Amino acid sequence: MRVVIKDTYDEVAAWAARYVAARINAVTAHIGPNDRASQLSPARPFVLGLPTGSTPLGMYRYLIDFCKQGKVSFKNVITFNMDEYVGLPPEHPQSYYRFMWDNFFSHIDIEKENVHILNGMAPDLDAECAQYEEKIQLCGGIDLFVGGVGEDGHMAFNEPGSSLSSRTRVKTLTEDTKRVNSRFFDNDPEKVPSTALTVGVGTVMDAREVLILVSGQNKAMALHKAVEEGINHMWTLSCLQLHPKAILVCDDDATMELRVRTVRYFKEIESSAT
Ligand code: GLP
Repeated sequence: MRVVIKDTYDEVAAWAARYVAARINAVTAHIGPNDRASQLSPARPFVLGLPTGSTPLGMYRYLIDFCKQGKVSFKNVITFNMDEYVGLPPEHPQSYYRFMWDNFFSHIDIEKENVHILNGMAPDLDAECAQYEEKIQLCGGIDLFVGGVGEDGHMAFNEPGSSLSSRTRVKTLTEDTKRVNSRFFDNDPEKVPSTALTVGVGTVMDAREVLILVSGQNKAMALHKAVEEGINHMWTLSCLQLHPKAILVCDDDATMELRVRTVRYFKEIESSAT
């Protein structure tokens, strides 16, 4: 596991955006009708897993700027979002569908048919989840899954106690998550949907790379559990210890529960790498 520690939230956002853009460019930049390389090798789109939440907003703003400046294009990018509330129609202001279009997709050059977001209004939720997994497979698997983390260490909506081999499914939200997310629902936990559709821990683990953004002191315990303690289903982020290519990019505030020695160790590795 690589842990990148930055001073501020903005530096986390910029670092993550640069990383995502570089990965996309590495796979898709040569794809073009007049490009000799693309005639020799079949064009391959880049498959990107994406999160919602406050944390990735800065990264999305940077990626929008990069796209407008021509530094990255999403024309050959296929996206799969991590999760969606059950029972919220897409036009609901707090649906993750709406979040993604308002904060990201409407501002970049992505093709609408390349965007995948779980439908929390599907008549058969289990079938919706199974089809989502199939679609990911049909696209060749996820190249890079970007995510955030909940205060209790959940990844997507894989709440404490989730199976570490779980796949996309319906998940009941904990009272803690409803309390934290009630800030978007008039501060009333009762208004937060009780269930969500979410990719599983296993779905994230199957991605070729995982990049998790961690910001703020309220995430410090989750970061500590994920980095310094053992793999545990009560802190599902800790499963990334088993991933061959996982990066946690975090700000100083998020490291408050890490040992000084741990912080120094990871900072030294990064400074000698760059
Ligand atoms: C929700 C989402 C997660 C997200 C978490 C943290 O629970 N399902 O994917 O990581 O919130 O959100 P924030 O970045 O707003 O702290």
